Amino acid sequence: MFDDLFSLKDRIAVVTGGGRGIGKMIAGGFVARGAKVYITSRSEEECQATAQELGPNCISAPGDISSQEDIDQLVARIKDNEGQLDLLVNNAGAAWGAPFAEYPMHGWDKVMALNVRSPFFLIQAFHPLLCANATADCPSKVINVSSVDGLRISAHETYAYQASKAALNHLTRRLAARLIEDHIVVNCIAPGAFPTKINRAVRDRADELASHIPAKRVGRLEDIVGPAVFLASKAGNYVVGETLAVDGGLTYASYDAFNLAALEV
Ligand SMILES: NC(=O)c1ccc[n+]([C@@H]2O[C@H](COP(=O)([O-])OP(=O)(O)OC[C@H]3O[C@@H](n4cnc5c(N)ncnc54)[C@H](OP(=O)(O)O)[C@@H]3O)[C@@H](O)[C@H]2O)c1
Repeated sequence: MFDDLFSLKDRIAVVTGGGRGIGKMIAGGFVARGAKVYITSRSEEECQATAQELGPNCISAPGDISSQEDIDQLVARIKDNEGQLDLLVNNAGAAWGAPFAEYPMHGWDKVMALNVRSPFFLIQAFHPLLCANATADCPSKVINVSSVDGLRISAHETYAYQASKAALNHLTRRLAARLIEDHIVVNCIAPGAFPTKINRAVRDRADELASHIPAKRVGRLEDIVGPAVFLASKAGNYVVGETLAVDGGLTYASYDAFNLAALEV
């Protein structure tokens, strides 16, 4: 009964922004559990290098997922090659920081387009393929990747980013309510501090920042893979519309969440 609880054997997955960082970690974790994973990123080179590194069950599918044309191309490719999609991870994201008085509209639009609009329209475009193989006992899964910055404010002047991640948390619940009707389970992971390109502070000052985190360290590969595999597999089938903070206690186990030195970007 428990043998296949965390298995992703033969599941077809798409991980946006899978070329590096958290998306690459999730893609690698899914491949290790038996899934066939398509990864996207704008950089064709990075996408291909990562697919090669993760092995034959990881396939490079480069494109800009903030563009409807590229979304349509990606969906057509999965439709032609697989005829179904079991797991969609909306991980690609961008941040923009600027002082309040100078915060530019083009930065705002770029962040909102990628972090909120793209997940919605990807889910919409993939809906027929997500329905194709989904049943009440074996639902398809959507996992959005937001941020702890969408659960509480951070001191950084990343206004659009923080609003976009809060919007994604809320959108997760709204879509979960609609899509459970079609046996598609929608959840969200809100990472804390992981050393990646988007989060230079964590990458460059991990030891210093670790002292502000209740768990006394920044996030690691297994910290993000575990929750992603849990939500994607049978183990997570009855968790619906949840936003799971994966942050070493920063959000829910800290006395000082609002005054902490900002850990992102
Ligand atoms: N690292 C953290 O501490 C942290 C904390 C909270 C939340 N998060 C969230 O985790 C997610 C992943 O971030 P990360 O830390 O792994 O950052 P990252 O290393 O910068 O990775 C971002 C990925 O998204 C891709 N991407 C960006 N724009 C894209 C577009 N328009 N179309 C397709 N792919 C695009 C990037 O590739 P290209 O540039 O080649 O397109 C890259 O593969 C983001 O949503 C981020 O907000 C991260």
